[in-house]
Amino acid sequence: MPSPTDPRSTRSRHRPDAPNPVGFPQDDRRIYDYYIAGRQSAALAVAVRAGLFDLLDVSPRPETEIREHLGCAARPLRALLAALIAMDIVRRDGDRYELTPDASSYLVEGKPGWLGGLIDLEVEHFLSPRALLDALQRDESSVYRGQDPWEAHAEDPEKARRFTRAMHSISERPAAGLAEVVDFSGVTNLLDVGGGSGAISLAIARVWPNVRCTVWDLEVVCAVAREYADAAGLAERVIARPGDMFAEPFPLRHDAVLLSQILHDWPPEKGALLLEKAHAALPDGGIVLIHEKLVADDGRGPLANALVNLDMLVWTEGQQYDERTLAAMLANAGFAAAETRRTAGYWSVVTARKGG
Ligand SMILES: C[S@@+](CC[C@H](N)C(=O)[O-])C[C@H]1O[C@@H](n2cnc3c(N)ncnc32)[C@H](O)[C@@H]1O
Repeated sequence: MPSPTDPRSTRSRHRPDAPNPVGFPQDDRRIYDYYIAGRQSAALAVAVRAGLFDLLDVSPRPETEIREHLGCAARPLRALLAALIAMDIVRRDGDRYELTPDASSYLVEGKPGWLGGLIDLEVEHFLSPRALLDALQRDESSVYRGQDPWEAHAEDPEKARRFTRAMHSISERPAAGLAEVVDFSGVTNLLDVGGGSGAISLAIARVWPNVRCTVWDLEVVCAVAREYADAAGLAERVIARPGDMFAEPFPLRHDAVLLSQILHDWPPEKGALLLEKAHAALPDGGIVLIHEKLVADDGRGPLANALVNLDMLVWTEGQQYDERTLAAMLANAGFAAAETRRTAGYWSVVTARKGG
């Protein structure tokens, strides 16, 4: 005789209105949804790469026109559009497809806050279960077949450019938030360590005319940062200076040092070293700013930031930090009174002062 919880015993008791079969009373959709969720990243990345969002932002279009522009077949396009509709990224009005406001704001190339640079990287560097399993077993970054990502960028300007554009893509919006929530009125010269495209420096320079910023990064990245500064009309106050944050002392004559998405790229010992170097380079009263996607002290999310930690495994030697760990690292380096503020979305900035 099957037991009452054995699926074989439940057939006659099945009620069509019941959300869960009696034999499986626990809903499985949360697990199933996590399993299937990776397809959302894939759909988004493919739509970015294919140019779907740029096309629909010009005007809503029927399926035939989209097919013509993207050069794709009807069956895959319909499946992609159906997924994007279910994700509330695209919607259908009669026979035309159009973007939802979120998609129009953040998925159209050339608009401020465009996230496509980051999302497009997924086409080649998707965090597959295979890559994650390898990282779990070997604990080494594997994104460029085990090569140190920064060395790979130094050797290949095109790789460096793509990565820097991706970083610009995610940093632009929180950069604007950082420039709004931190008081830079007492700052004259800011050193943006590993500043990449200079997204954060540009946002600060836009809001605070008293601040001059130096993006300090690998030579190959400085070339990209200069292009962004020129395009923003801020090349006078946002300059790029080639250097190596580990091999060289931090340049002097700066009263603020910014580390945006830097500590999360390296192990804590190297992060501690960078904070000590920042402390040594700053005058008394100077401030250090750490900009990161923080995870909660008890390790419970936010989910997006906990998931970024997995990317860190395959891209870097680092991990996402919590506020308490950063405050302790800052205190160890000699900084006082660490304060945390949200900048935008999942992002926060932790500031602390030299000399109390
Ligand atoms: C995750 S990105 C952060 C970019 C930028 N701060 C932002 O938040 O958008 C890390 C940056 O560190 C730079 N970097 C890596 N190794 C470096 C080194 N030894 N010295 C200086 N910069 C370095 C990379 O080129 C890259 O631009």
